[in-house]
Amino acid sequence: MTVQTGKPQKLPGTRPDGTRTEGEASARVREMFSRIAPRYDFLNHALSFSLDKVWRRRTARKFRRVLRRTDARVLDLCCGTGDLTFAMEQVRVHEIRDRGAHRFPLIGSDFAQPMLDRARRKAAARSRSTVFTAADALHLPFAEASFDLVTSAFGFRNLVNYERGLREIARVLKPGGEVGILEFSEPGAGPMAGLFRFYFRNVLPHVGAAISGNSEAYTYLPGSVARFPVPKEITALMQKVGFTLVHTTSWNFRSVVLHTARLPQD
Ligand SMILES: C[S@@+](CC[C@H](N)C(=O)[O-])C[C@H]1O[C@@H](n2cnc3c(N)ncnc32)[C@H](O)[C@@H]1O
Repeated sequence: MTVQTGKPQKLPGTRPDGTRTEGEASARVREMFSRIAPRYDFLNHALSFSLDKVWRRRTARKFRRVLRRTDARVLDLCCGTGDLTFAMEQVRVHEIRDRGAHRFPLIGSDFAQPMLDRARRKAAARSRSTVFTAADALHLPFAEASFDLVTSAFGFRNLVNYERGLREIARVLKPGGEVGILEFSEPGAGPMAGLFRFYFRNVLPHVGAAISGNSEAYTYLPGSVARFPVPKEITALMQKVGFTLVHTTSWNFRSVVLHTARLPQD
């Protein structure tokens, strides 16, 4: 794996190595996640020492005010195998206490069919009422003003155009609706952050490649984080698109950031 030197070039969206256009990049991302789907959960938990579960639980809890509303409509974008969707479902069950009281199932959407297949199998095994549907986050099959909350965990960074991704989220959110984007970021300064940076760039890609049998996906991970806009650039983009109350919360030496915001009321 090559160590990044100099400032990585920031692009309007992700571009896996060897891709130039949005169409090529999107096809490559979908293919990459489809290929690693069978080992995705195992690797996520192993490579993060199960911290990924903590980050998703914290994210879900941030939105408990929305999740406790029995009429809330919630969409988890780039849901993969559904772990954030399930974390939100758990918060909702805890908050509402009555499993049957909510009126609308939580929806998870993703464009990689093998990821969705796994999400559906997990939902069936856990008797969850979540619904998983195929959709490209840049062309959502939902009407304007459909949702009270749209979330995404570790998915947004993989979009081929971040501004269009945010505009699409804003389109499907109701006035006053909330958004939560959980993403990796380059860690801050300090020895522990340096250790984490070393692990993320030099150890994780090798372990990920060995276990998943796919070296591209786990080399792509640190590269895509290095090229991803820094939190204040994401904040500026959210404000540009029309979100208010834009806020960031970071964990794990600032290597994991939750961006939250809402649309103004009409
Ligand atoms: C790193 S996984 C995250 C999955 C899950 N949210 C989690 O927390 O584990 C990224 C997911 O984003 C999906 N994805 C990337 N670009 C997408 C797009 N344009 N539309 C829908 N899904 C997309 C991939 O298929 C993949 O399942």
